[in-house]
Amino acid sequence: MIRQANGEDLNELVEMERLLFGKGAWSKASFNYELTENPVSKIFLYQLNKQTVGYLGCWVLLPQIQITTLGVLPEFQNRGIGGKLLWHLEKLAKQLGVNEISLEVRISNRPAITLYQRHGFEILAKRRGYYQDNDEDAYLMVKEMDGE
Ligand SMILES: CC(C)(COP(=O)(O)OP(=O)(O)OC[C@H]1O[C@@H](n2cnc3c(N)ncnc32)[C@H](O)[C@@H]1OP(=O)(O)O)[C@@H](O)C(=O)NCCC(=O)NCCS
Repeated sequence: MIRQANGEDLNELVEMERLLFGKGAWSKASFNYELTENPVSKIFLYQLNKQTVGYLGCWVLLPQIQITTLGVLPEFQNRGIGGKLLWHLEKLAKQLGVNEISLEVRISNRPAITLYQRHGFEILAKRRGYYQDNDEDAYLMVKEMDGE
């Protein structure tokens, strides 16, 4: 099942984020801010038997949504969980009348880029040196929602 995260999910999210993103992980303080203070932030959790195995963070900035983070625990990857989190967000976006969902992704991150392209996201531009840990470029990917 998918549910919205709250302050009680902080430690679990920080642990997963560190495992998945290493040096580039969001800090505990950043997650805490997203969960408890940032009014435009929503984080959705994908849970199996109450264990969180995936999450998707976004900023709802109507009429747009920006995806800020997406992760699935390694042993649960390639089972469609990332895709289900994206569908969940796209359903919400339609309900809210959003016209565009955007995100940044490392240009080396083939699995993520493939997933986003399957969901109708297109590469619009490259942001040079966007990731400070290794100076990697990011693709800006956008999905237009108009007319769907
Ligand atoms: C990106 C991520 C969230 C995807 O989650 P997931 O649950 O594995 O996603 P799904 O199972 O729904 O889909 C994975 C897709 O990636 C594709 N894929 C997997 N490994 C791949 C590879 N090495 N090269 C290209 N595509 C690949 C598969 O084709 C699959 O698409 P399909 O099922 O439609 O064929 C997950 O891999 C992850 O957490 N990665 C580490 C963190 C990360 O990079 N997050 C994205 C930040 S923008």
